[in-house]
Amino acid sequence: MPEFIPLISEQKIHEQVKKIGNRICSDYKTRDLVLLGVLKGSFIFLADLTRQISIDHTIDFIGASSYKGTSSTGQIVFTKQPDLELENKDVLLVEDIVDTGQTLLKIIEFITLLNPRSIKICTLIDKHERRDIKIDVDYSCFSLDKGFIVGYGLDYNEKYRNLPAIYDLKL
Ligand code: IMP
Ligand code: MG
Repeated sequence: MPEFIPLISEQKIHEQVKKIGNRICSDYKTRDLVLLGVLKGSFIFLADLTRQISIDHTIDFIGASSYKGTSSTGQIVFTKQPDLELENKDVLLVEDIVDTGQTLLKIIEFITLLNPRSIKICTLIDKHERRDIKIDVDYSCFSLDKGFIVGYGLDYNEKYRNLPAIYDLKL
């Protein structure tokens, strides 16, 4: 049976999302902000984050998938393209977790072709151990050295996204 070790509480998540939302509000006041959620893992984070951002902004999603089980396949598959026009927009990519950085690299390469004014990165979790790409995370709610976590949108083989807090998964 898998074991779920509590790591980050609902309360802590709420506090951090609120803080990051406030920072985004002041940084993007004179900008044309699009929150671009990376499906599927970011859907709960994005739903909470958008409600902490009081300035006008739009929301879209891009689908990218690379994981099978607890290790990346290395191959990124785009499962959904953005619908909105991103030219001259200030795109803020919203991720659940940045691990190796490969997924974001591919997404940034793709979004760049659409000529946005700016591209920045906002992640719920910045996980360091396996980072192999030099990538600047602009907004991060939590830092993690290593481990495999689930809950609050994060999955293991598509399960456990529904857990309201974040847990270390021991298989
Ligand atoms: P990267 O391309 O290695 O940065 O992988 C990023 C993607 O891998 C994230 O968007 C997640 O979907 C998935 N991922 C990486 N680490 C974890 C984890 O600890 N739990 C759940 N999913 C993870
Ligand atoms: Mg993801």
